[in-house]
Amino acid sequence: MELEQIPGVGKSIAKRLRDAGFVNVETLAVTPAREVKEKAGYEKLEAAQRIVEAARQALGCSFITAYEHWEMTKRRLRCTTGSKALDSLLGGGIETQAITEFVGQYGSGKTQLCLTLCVTAQLKPEQGGLGGNVLYFDTEGTFSSNRVYQIAAENGLDPGQTLHNITLSRIYTSDHQMFLLDNAFEKCAEENVKLVIVDSVISHFRGEYLGRETLADRQQKLNLYMHKLLRLAEILNLAVVVTNQAQSDPTPQWGNRQPEDRPAGGNILAHASTTRVWLRRAKGEGKRIARVFDSPCLPEGECVFRITAKGIEDAPEEEKAEKAESQE
Ligand SMILES: Nc1ncnc2c1ncn2[C@@H]1O[C@H](COP(=O)(O)OP(=O)(O)OP(=O)(O)O)[C@@H](O)[C@H]1O
Ligand SMILES: [Mg+2]
Repeated sequence: MELEQIPGVGKSIAKRLRDAGFVNVETLAVTPAREVKEKAGYEKLEAAQRIVEAARQALGCSFITAYEHWEMTKRRLRCTTGSKALDSLLGGGIETQAITEFVGQYGSGKTQLCLTLCVTAQLKPEQGGLGGNVLYFDTEGTFSSNRVYQIAAENGLDPGQTLHNITLSRIYTSDHQMFLLDNAFEKCAEENVKLVIVDSVISHFRGEYLGRETLADRQQKLNLYMHKLLRLAEILNLAVVVTNQAQSDPTPQWGNRQPEDRPAGGNILAHASTTRVWLRRAKGEGKRIARVFDSPCLPEGECVFRITAKGIEDAPEEEKAEKAESQE
């Protein structure tokens, strides 16, 4: 929705807001007034609060009934990961209006899963996809167009068209990461993006904020980032997938004297992600284990899948079990 559609906003105010990165009413409505004040250079917080409130009213999103909320959740879609076992562990696949976090050691398959989702998200809903395009934020420089080409071809899709439907954004700093997310609202709405990937959400934050004294600043910024991601997912009914790194815990719990791995990002990521999945290597070629360890509506559980030329798919024994079940 154009900024000029907010009552009282003319060309000059709209320009000021646009120059500050608030490209449309949706972006403005979901931004804290304090941030609007700073970015658009308002002297008084009240002025920023008024404009944000006007944007919310223009969108009609200040209050909703529980019934409207129920209707909104009914619009949720699910995207297949390529593995039936992993889909059912996730309650039917990756969900829209939510953030799904995959965390694990290097080589655990996080990026491979993201690259596979770039392809499966483009499938029609009746084929298990979201029927939309993909926006991919690559913070580690590990996006591989060759690999996406291979996954698309192996799955019988047109690889060139599949690549055309993915918008790639290479991120160089945490500030850059924050800035580009502000622009994502418009991009996603315009280009029918149904899946946003951030691989990984944490690397710049971890790399830039060193030492205990910087931790509070880092966490505050990360919190803002995650909340914006969730609003994007809710407003545009799209799926957000983030990856996170594992970090070694130097102070293992009593009774467990081995150093333990835990997800980086602390409580902020723990609260902001809707569903959290731990990935680890398993014995056997390409095999990986996924474990749901935090979800508002799924039980904790594990499954095995594997990484192959097709991307992510079921491990052979899971395939056999599926077949036996369907024959019964
Ligand atoms: N074409 C392929 N066919 C089969 N397996 C592959 C293929 N490409 C990559 N892999 C597997 O995927 C693994 C790499 O996984 P991935 O890059 O997803 O890890 P990651 O969890 O993202 O790690 P990091 O934390 O370093 O980013 C490789 O070790 C290899 O086993
Ligand atoms: Mg990776």
